Amino acid sequence: MDERIIATDEQSADDWQYSLRPRRLVEYIGQDKAKKNLSVFVKAAMSRREALDHVLLYGPPGLGKTTLAGIIANELGVNFRPTSGPAIERSGDLAALLTNLQERDVLFIDEIHRLSRQVEEILYSAMEDFALDIIIGKGPSARSIRLDIAPFTLIGATTKAGALSPPLRDRFGVISRLEYYSVDALVEIITRAAQILKIPIDVKGAEEIGRRSRGTPRIANRLLKRVRDFAEVEGVKEISEDVANRALQALEVDSAGLDHTDRRMLDAMIKKFRGGPVGLETIAASISETRETIEDIYEPYLLQLGFIMRTPRGRVVTEAGYNHMGVIYPSAQNVEQKLFGFEE
Ligand SMILES: Nc1ncnc2c1ncn2[C@@H]1O[C@H](COP(=O)(O)OP(=O)(O)OP(=O)(O)O)[C@@H](O)[C@H]1O
Ligand SMILES: [Mg+2]
Repeated sequence: MDERIIATDEQSADDWQYSLRPRRLVEYIGQDKAKKNLSVFVKAAMSRREALDHVLLYGPPGLGKTTLAGIIANELGVNFRPTSGPAIERSGDLAALLTNLQERDVLFIDEIHRLSRQVEEILYSAMEDFALDIIIGKGPSARSIRLDIAPFTLIGATTKAGALSPPLRDRFGVISRLEYYSVDALVEIITRAAQILKIPIDVKGAEEIGRRSRGTPRIANRLLKRVRDFAEVEGVKEISEDVANRALQALEVDSAGLDHTDRRMLDAMIKKFRGGPVGLETIAASISETRETIEDIYEPYLLQLGFIMRTPRGRVVTEAGYNHMGVIYPSAQNVEQKLFGFEE
């Protein structure tokens, strides 16, 4: 897969974003529901001088899970210890992390759905009893000892809440789902980033970028940076709607934030499969991508926009999807057949 400008994964070029990461809850834009709940829990935990309950953050990539976890630690005034599921290979790695925590510290495990079974099991007693059960020795002389650890807060982040094992999920006291951002929230994020990076931009320019950012702050920040490059080359002083529009067109990010791969997928579904229903495997093969890539990366946003739909018989392009691609939608009768499988 070639590198997409609207990719949601962290890329090395994003390093500059670290200065853009909000550090306090008041600087964290949008996600009002999650923010409101968390601020209540943080205040309560602080007034009781207890560790905050374990928190699970989930939602699509780039919506601010890592950022929010760091903010929670800041608000609590404790250490932030970040790691990730794949980085904790053996149960000993986790034991080392846990025994080094100070009271009320935040241990952040990114991609927590990728923890191995054994590591996960160690985590259960740590989360519940703040204790570690360790086996010492081998064979008949082996014995299990229980080590106390400091009360801590585990913050887990995942893009796939469904992939988490139920016993692990049940041990989180607070479960917060992050949502795609509204254009208004993205405009605020873009304006804030532009201020920090000293990029002159007007409201219309920020709106143009916000509309095409797929509801995702990481993409908004990246597009802002690319549009700035474009403006600089053109010798433009301030990013206006017109500059943003032309830059994004040049970058092949369309009015809904779709790039050439999304469009290629919709195009194939419409032209080769008459709008579907068509199975994921077939779509994948027809545009030379893997099923997983389509399912994890392209499809969620197209579903969110309502450009495609899942049906029992496969994926279908909706009327909005046809309209966006500038193709006339087939007659109502055909559509009924498609969705419900009626045969004349
Ligand atoms: N609410 C917000 N307000 C302002 N900026 C934000 C907000 N949320 C995220 N950002 C910006 O978006 C970038 C991506 O956020 P972050 O890395 O926290 O996402 P994530 O959900 O952890 O993604 P991933 O699932 O890939 O780990 C951050 O660098 C930050 O600059
Ligand atoms: Mg992250």
